[in-house]
Amino acid sequence: MTFRWQSRIYTCDSLHHPYIRPPLPHGDFQTARQLFANVRWGSLELHHHLDASAVARTYAPDEPIILNRPHAAARAARFFASKFPGKSLYAVKANPSADLLEVLWGAGITHYDTASIAEVRLVRQTLPEATLCFMHPVKTASAIREAYRVHGVRTFSLDTREELEKIVAATADDEGNLAPDLRLCVRLRVSSEYSELSLASKFGIDLADAGPLLQETRQSADWLGVCFHVGSQAMTPFAYVQALERVRAAIADAGVVIDMIDVGGGFPSVYPGMEPPPLEDYFAVIHRHFEALPIAYNAELWCEPGRALCAEYNSLIVKVEKRRGRELYINDGAYGALYDAAHIGWRFPVKCLTGNRSEALEDFAFYGPTCDDADYMEGPFQLPADIQAGDFIEIGMLGAYGAAMRTAFNGFGQGDSVIVGDEPMASLYTGERKDPRVSDNVVSLR
Ligand SMILES: Cc1ncc(COP(=O)(O)O)c(C=O)c1O
Repeated sequence: MTFRWQSRIYTCDSLHHPYIRPPLPHGDFQTARQLFANVRWGSLELHHHLDASAVARTYAPDEPIILNRPHAAARAARFFASKFPGKSLYAVKANPSADLLEVLWGAGITHYDTASIAEVRLVRQTLPEATLCFMHPVKTASAIREAYRVHGVRTFSLDTREELEKIVAATADDEGNLAPDLRLCVRLRVSSEYSELSLASKFGIDLADAGPLLQETRQSADWLGVCFHVGSQAMTPFAYVQALERVRAAIADAGVVIDMIDVGGGFPSVYPGMEPPPLEDYFAVIHRHFEALPIAYNAELWCEPGRALCAEYNSLIVKVEKRRGRELYINDGAYGALYDAAHIGWRFPVKCLTGNRSEALEDFAFYGPTCDDADYMEGPFQLPADIQAGDFIEIGMLGAYGAAMRTAFNGFGQGDSVIVGDEPMASLYTGERKDPRVSDNVVSLR
């Protein structure tokens, strides 16, 4: 076996941001890419395989292997680039793999939503021509300054007067002249009630206070936008209707010219038990309501999909280390790519890769490899009744907030990646819809 191990996973101090390490020296682009090297898996990347079964057969890996499907990410990107009635920014946080960034760029995604200076550096280094937007409403002055001066960022979001003042001060030149070319987006708080993951608490100015902030921001902005986020995995287009109605009220209250509306992320992917309407329905509703807003005649429409662009990019091969009744001890888990499966009970499609197993399926729960009781994924995950230690499982749809979340906790988290040419276990982009009578554990839209 020619498997070469890589130790690219860094110890981290935040579960949510496994790639965040101590700050880089100002403007140090060389190391920006290394910072995210834990999601650029490496040594097996040049090896292309037919599918997950072929990978399991070839390597019989003792560590999890991430499978990359560039063709699936490129298909999603082409879909957004050609069908969304405006500009699509990729929300880098969903999966900051440099390989993925290159795929998205090649498929027509030219704008990138970054949330930290490390993401700004990564995208600038990986895609020198890309347009970067700094869409975290709470930034450090040094991050704003570097983004503006060094990396050419002009678009920033904010949801308070303090952040506005910070942006204005940090982008002034050494003589104190204010930046003439700021493109500022005021983030409005909207409901997350139609989404699986709420983003309604932390950011966004309330409608009641939005008017004065929009007016003040207009004074400093060459170009003024309103942005929001309806929450991740929005299960109905109505989520955007409701949010755009709130935008309308905020604009009416402020009485200022608006140059851009950014409907954020939230576009769904397909998971067991979560099959959303076609994305075209979302696009049509958004376009209709955008057209009816009281905004500049040449105002732009933007969106910031994360999940919808990268969910299909990755799946994972894990090994069953032990079976205890209906519980399988596998070698990835809550501190690895299965964060959402453990912490919010998200179910992902699964498939046993070991041949000659029973066709009868049973419900299983997973334990991850660490010593932590919380390293538990309840599922249920339907797998062959006679699955046993030594078998391999493919866990699908982990490209968004899965592959990017891996940590080295307890010494686990090592592994590698390969490219496979088969279809992801589910897709919103293949044009086929699921037969509702099919088991909702494995959603196969092929
Ligand atoms: C500002 C912003 N834009 C876009 C996204 C991407 O959201 P999603 O992955 O639901 O499309 C996020 C996710 O947290 C976000 O915070």
